[in-house]
Amino acid sequence: MLWKLILTLSNLSSSRPFHYPQAGAPLSCGKVSLESLARRFGTPLYVYSADQIVERLGLFQQALKGRDHLVCYAVKANSALAILKLLAAHGAGFDIVSGGELERVLAAAPEAVGRVVFSGVGKTAAEIDLALKAGILEFNVESEAELALLAARAKKLKTKARFALRVNPDVFADTHPYISTGLREHKFGIDIRQALRIYKSVVGNRWLEAHGVSVHIGSQIRSAAPFGAAMVRVSRLVGELRGGGIVLKSIDAGGGLGIDYHGGAFDAAAKVQEYAAAIGEALAGFEGRLMLEPGRFLVAQAGALVARALQVKRNGKKTFVITDAAMNDLIRPALYQAHHEIVPVRRRAGRPRTVDVVGPVCETGDFFARDRKLAPVEPGDLVALLDAGAYGMAQSSNYNTRPRAAEVLVEGGKARLIRRRETVADLLAPELGLASM
Ligand code: LLP
Repeated sequence: MLWKLILTLSNLSSSRPFHYPQAGAPLSCGKVSLESLARRFGTPLYVYSADQIVERLGLFQQALKGRDHLVCYAVKANSALAILKLLAAHGAGFDIVSGGELERVLAAAPEAVGRVVFSGVGKTAAEIDLALKAGILEFNVESEAELALLAARAKKLKTKARFALRVNPDVFADTHPYISTGLREHKFGIDIRQALRIYKSVVGNRWLEAHGVSVHIGSQIRSAAPFGAAMVRVSRLVGELRGGGIVLKSIDAGGGLGIDYHGGAFDAAAKVQEYAAAIGEALAGFEGRLMLEPGRFLVAQAGALVARALQVKRNGKKTFVITDAAMNDLIRPALYQAHHEIVPVRRRAGRPRTVDVVGPVCETGDFFARDRKLAPVEPGDLVALLDAGAYGMAQSSNYNTRPRAAEVLVEGGKARLIRRRETVADLLAPELGLASM
């Protein structure tokens, strides 16, 4: 029958490391079967392909070859220590947004601290001090007040802070409104029209070095055009600064390059090429270093969340597949109406059915898919939620007192547990006050 043929032939897009090695075999990450991982480590379970992460980093490095560059992985996308260590070993720097993320880099790859840029719209004095003492590469400063604070902290520590102003280029990027950042109405960055004045205002300040300029217009942006448009504006600013005697060493173009969550044909290498070309073209004539801050593009498709179907339940006309993973494990569908492909780990014969895939959390918003045509799933079956490597575990919570999932990194044919499953005891540990109740 036709559907049977389609099921057998349809493999997952080549832009993902997850595939069915042969008809009847379970879904695998590289050479490792997800069924065996679920057996060993339980579910819900995040599984990542180290090979794909390294390969994706290589695409950016390759595309920028021939010019001074640094790819600073956006730690917020997936901050697992083992992944940071892996990326550092392949030459990545890091884009951090908190003192906590800096501590992660220091724990995983202290040798990479000179390749760290510190972004974020509200840095505390303590976080700035930590970063100054650690000797990071650059602070991406988001307001005049923050620049003053940075100078004050540098003075106190008798050191010089390298900074870039994060400018807001007022460029529209077509993405979900929650993750678009490059318009004047957003909280991010400094109005690009103010930047020249601010750079000039700190010339001669012995605690500050105008090192670069940075920009980040949003996330999950599928077209290269807005990146180019932002860079044209940044390039104009850099020229004006040079005219005024301020020569910047670096331009940080931020992150934001999107992936295809629907899994059609997607050529990651071509995407990166196109993106790097749009940026490079706008920056023609700039001799300094080009920095990028990709997060999602490096890790999203490398990861899947493996869950077990607990029940399949009918309510009225609807069928619900209830999994042991929930919105606390992967909040993207609930928060951004995000689409994640869901596939059975072991395919069953039978007609696809239209179902909702939901978790056990007590919220109607706790769903992974609604009215989705899915290959048949029975209670006890494993399913994989694809493209979950970015902003999955990193945005997880303990809502409903649910311990966080375990994480596994697959390298070549080997799987390694990189984060053990949390226990309820872990969750209760910081709580105080029972004794006095
Ligand atoms: N640099 C800065 C300053 C950022 O704010 C971000 C992401 C990045 C780099 C990395 O962007 P990426 O290459 O990953 O698009 N939780 C949302 C995404 C939030 C992105 C926030 N900033 C999601 O799950 O889609």
